[in-house]
Amino acid sequence: MSICSRQTARSIATEERYGARIYAPLDIVIERGHGCWVEDLDGKRYLDCLSAYSAVNFGHSHPDLVAAATAQLARITLTSRAFRNTELPAFLEELCTAFDFEMALPMNTGAEAVETALKTARKWAYEVKGVPPDEAEIIVCRNNFHGRTIAVVGFSTEAAYRRGFGPFAPGFRVVPYGNVDALEDAFSERTAAFLVEPIQGEAGVIVPPAGYLRQALALCREAQVLLIADEIQTGLGRTGTLLACDHEGVEPDIAVVGKSLGGGLYPVSAVMASSEVLGLFRPGDHGSTFSGNPLGAAIGRAVLRLLDDDALLASVAGTGARLLAELRDLESPIVREVRGRGLMIGIELSVPARPLCERLAHAGVLCKETHGTVLRVSPPLILDEEAAGWLMTELAAVLEA
Ligand SMILES: Cc1ncc(COP(=O)(O)O)c(C=O)c1O
Repeated sequence: MSICSRQTARSIATEERYGARIYAPLDIVIERGHGCWVEDLDGKRYLDCLSAYSAVNFGHSHPDLVAAATAQLARITLTSRAFRNTELPAFLEELCTAFDFEMALPMNTGAEAVETALKTARKWAYEVKGVPPDEAEIIVCRNNFHGRTIAVVGFSTEAAYRRGFGPFAPGFRVVPYGNVDALEDAFSERTAAFLVEPIQGEAGVIVPPAGYLRQALALCREAQVLLIADEIQTGLGRTGTLLACDHEGVEPDIAVVGKSLGGGLYPVSAVMASSEVLGLFRPGDHGSTFSGNPLGAAIGRAVLRLLDDDALLASVAGTGARLLAELRDLESPIVREVRGRGLMIGIELSVPARPLCERLAHAGVLCKETHGTVLRVSPPLILDEEAAGWLMTELAAVLEA
C-alpha cells in the first residue's frame, strides 16, 4: 500500500504511542466522509465497505441526521433519567411502532443492550416462569458475537475474546449454530432464553439453514423460553428487511438493536419486548446515565424516519442479491464461498484476507477481514447502482488477479 504523507505517519505514530492497541486497523487515516465515501488525510477517496461494522447504514454525515443532531445539540443533550425529557417518549413510541413491540428500553452501545436483554430474560425467568433463584440458564450459539463485556465474552467460544479475562459469569450454555435438535436437547426447566444472531456477523457472515429461526422460535414457545434476537448488526435494513428475523416471519420475544440506530453519529441501542417482559423492571432495577438521553433519542427518531422507506429496503435486497450473484460467478481460485443476505456479505477465501484488504484499499475500497480468511463487504445501505458496479469491478480485479 502506498504510505503516506508525513502527517499521516505522524497521526499513526501518535495513536500507536498513546493508545491501547485493541484493533489492528489498516493504516488509512480518515479525515472526512460523505455518503458512502470517505477521504483520508492525503485527500484519497475510498468507498466505505465496512460502514463501521454496520453502524453507518445511512452513509456518513447524512444531512437529515446531522440536521436532527444539530438542532438537538442546541437545545439539550443530557438530562439523565432522573428527570424526563421531551424526545424520549416520542422515540420510544416511534421505535415500538416501527418494530411492532409493546415496550422498549434504550441503552447506548450494543454490548450494553445485550447485557440488558440478559438481565431482562433472567428477571422474567424468576418472576414469570418460576425458575428457582440464581438458577436461570441462557442458551447461546457457538461462534456467537454479542460484544465485549465480561459477561458476554464469558460465553464466547472464541479463545482470543476470553483469554486473560476470567473468571466469568455462570448460567450460559453453548449449542451449535443452525442446529435445532441441539437447541431442543439443551432446554431445561431452568432455561430462560435462547440468544441468537439471525446471521452471525463477526463469525464470518454465517447464514443459518432456512427455517432455523422459525423452528427455534417454535421450540422456544413450546418450552416457555424467550427467544432473544441480537439484531445489532443484522437489523435496521442491513439484510433488506427491517429486522433479519423478518425473512422468516419470526417475531422474537426480545429484539436487541444498536449500531445504526444512532446513525453513526452517536451510540444508541435498545432492547424491545412485550410489556409482560420489559414491564417487569421497577425503578432502581437497572440504569445507565446516558440511556434515553434527548440527543440520542432525537438522532434515533431521525434514523427511524430514514428507515421508513420501502424503496431503500428493496434497493438493499436487489443490490445485495446482484452483488452476491456476481461474486459467486467470479472465476477466482482463492474464493471458497460467498455468503450473505442483502448488503451483509462475506467472502470466504483460501488465503489470508488481510493482504487483499490492503490491495483493495489501494484501489479505493475499504473492507476489513474477519476471522483471518473472510473478507467482509457491508457498504452503507444507500449504495447506488453506479457505486455498486464500480465496487464489483474492483473486487473482481483483486480477487481474480
Ligand atoms: C451481533 C452483535 N452484537 C453485539 C455487538 C456489540 O456492539 P457494540 O460494539 O456496540 O458493543 C456487535 C458488534 O459488532 C454485534 O455484531
